[in-house]
Amino acid sequence: VVFIGFMGAGKSTAAKLFAQTLGLKALDSDRMLEERFGRPLAEEFEIAGEARFRAAEEELVCELLAGLQPDTVVSLGGGSVLSPAVREALEPHLSVLLDIGPDEAWLRVQGGDRDGRERPLARDHEVFSDLHATRREVYEGVADAILAGRPRETLAAAIPALLSLSEAPIGTKLLWASAASGSYPVLVGPSLLGAGIWPAPAARRFCVTDETVGPLYAALLGELQRTITIPAGEKAKTLSNAEHVWRELVEAGMTRADQLLALGGGVVGDLAGFCAATYQRGVPVVQIPTTLVAQVDSAYGGKTGVDLPQAKNYVGAYHQPAAVIVDTQTLQTLPAAELASGYVEVLKTALIAGGELWQRISADEPLDQRMILACVRTKLSVVAEDERDSGRRQVLNLGHTVGHAIEVLTGYERLRHGEAVGLGLLAALRLSGREELREQVRQLLVAHELPVQIDGVDVEEVITVTARDKKRIGERVPFVLVEEPGDVRSGCEVAEHDLRLAARELIS
Ligand SMILES: NC(=O)c1ccc[n+]([C@@H]2O[C@H](COP(=O)([O-])OP(=O)(O)OC[C@H]3O[C@@H](n4cnc5c(N)ncnc54)[C@H](O)[C@@H]3O)[C@@H](O)[C@H]2O)c1
Repeated sequence: VVFIGFMGAGKSTAAKLFAQTLGLKALDSDRMLEERFGRPLAEEFEIAGEARFRAAEEELVCELLAGLQPDTVVSLGGGSVLSPAVREALEPHLSVLLDIGPDEAWLRVQGGDRDGRERPLARDHEVFSDLHATRREVYEGVADAILAGRPRETLAAAIPALLSLSEAPIGTKLLWASAASGSYPVLVGPSLLGAGIWPAPAARRFCVTDETVGPLYAALLGELQRTITIPAGEKAKTLSNAEHVWRELVEAGMTRADQLLALGGGVVGDLAGFCAATYQRGVPVVQIPTTLVAQVDSAYGGKTGVDLPQAKNYVGAYHQPAAVIVDTQTLQTLPAAELASGYVEVLKTALIAGGELWQRISADEPLDQRMILACVRTKLSVVAEDERDSGRRQVLNLGHTVGHAIEVLTGYERLRHGEAVGLGLLAALRLSGREELREQVRQLLVAHELPVQIDGVDVEEVITVTARDKKRIGERVPFVLVEEPGDVRSGCEVAEHDLRLAARELIS
């Protein structure tokens, strides 16, 4: 195991902690380099210059990684991973990125290096932040696992999941999700189902799935005490199906020591999550999302619930999963229309994230695991800031206010969730006054054969149902608007007249 990351991320502490917990040895490449130079790194950096310093660092780190024994854990100097030779040498090892934001890293390095000397690359805040931005992508490219938060707290909880990675199929990545009410591992990789990887332990496992997904994948999950099957599709996300699940769980004798697996799309995830939140006042749930919507969005963040005939997701609870296991291979059996519907959530997430994800999505690059991971990271970072939708998390509702209203008005039948959100995105971009961006998004929706208009819906009804939105605060329905990709704002006031115009455009 090799810890990588930016200055101040806590790599040496993490390596020591990991080694201590598992009875291993910890090595620190910076310490070893200092011994080789015979003087502090900051001094060598000044005397030799960065190029010579990096060459010496590359040599030492490559030697170290080539001879690394399984009983040794290493922390690498922040800049060493910039070397392609070091990145190649890292390949056979498990690289764990300790992710830290630029501002927090800046604060942490203010005291200097471990001997209190000023760090040569941490003299100017702006230069430091730019360096952070360039390096982050390199780190993420090589990392098998990404842990955010304080290493001490996160690492102790993440060790079992990190160890499970060594048995996972090649290409599997681990993200560590934190929210106010708990943290959990997220494994993303091809062919994970059937690999028998369980990053969260349980006495016995019970499964909720739907009529389509169950026959395809339930058998890959190993021994299940009971598999409860609900009909496929949004129409099944009801209280009566929740009651059916609760009753089956009682009958099968599920207890809090057991685990409920939610195998399916967002409907199964939301419903099984709700059942897990309420059954015996809360049992652990492992989300195993099999649609794109669920893999990039609904499986994370702990929002669970069912629909009422009058309004969507109106009854529910927050219940963070014990783990999320994403087998990207399951998307192979997903019908094209469902994939397109999930693409809307990817598009929404890219608008929220901006940066590289938006660049790739706006260029209409084909979906890959890196995009899915980027979406997951965006969602996790938003939820980490605000689990209960009181602030930042509201940005995730981009496109959902009008989207939900359209879903209600079409009886959850005519449109898929993502299709409705696509229409909602167009409304939100119109209300944001972002003409060109709206057109760009419209074209992307068309290219993915998604609707950009709908018939048979009454504009005034859209206004009425929007006003009933559960995000309403008193008389106001707060809207999420887009300043530009990467700058999305929640809680925006919208005049009814403008909403009417934005909704009218959607109706053919
Ligand atoms: N909790 C949240 O944060 C959150 C976020 C976004 C959406 N949601 C909810 O998610 C739901 C929509 O989820 P969805 O789009 O996944 O719908 P879904 O669960 O209905 O799945 C769509 C269809 O695909 C089928 N399917 C699923 N996986 C398959 C596979 N691998 N191969 C073949 N068929 C497969 C299902 O049987 C279903 O017929 C909505 O109810 C929405 O409210 C929740």
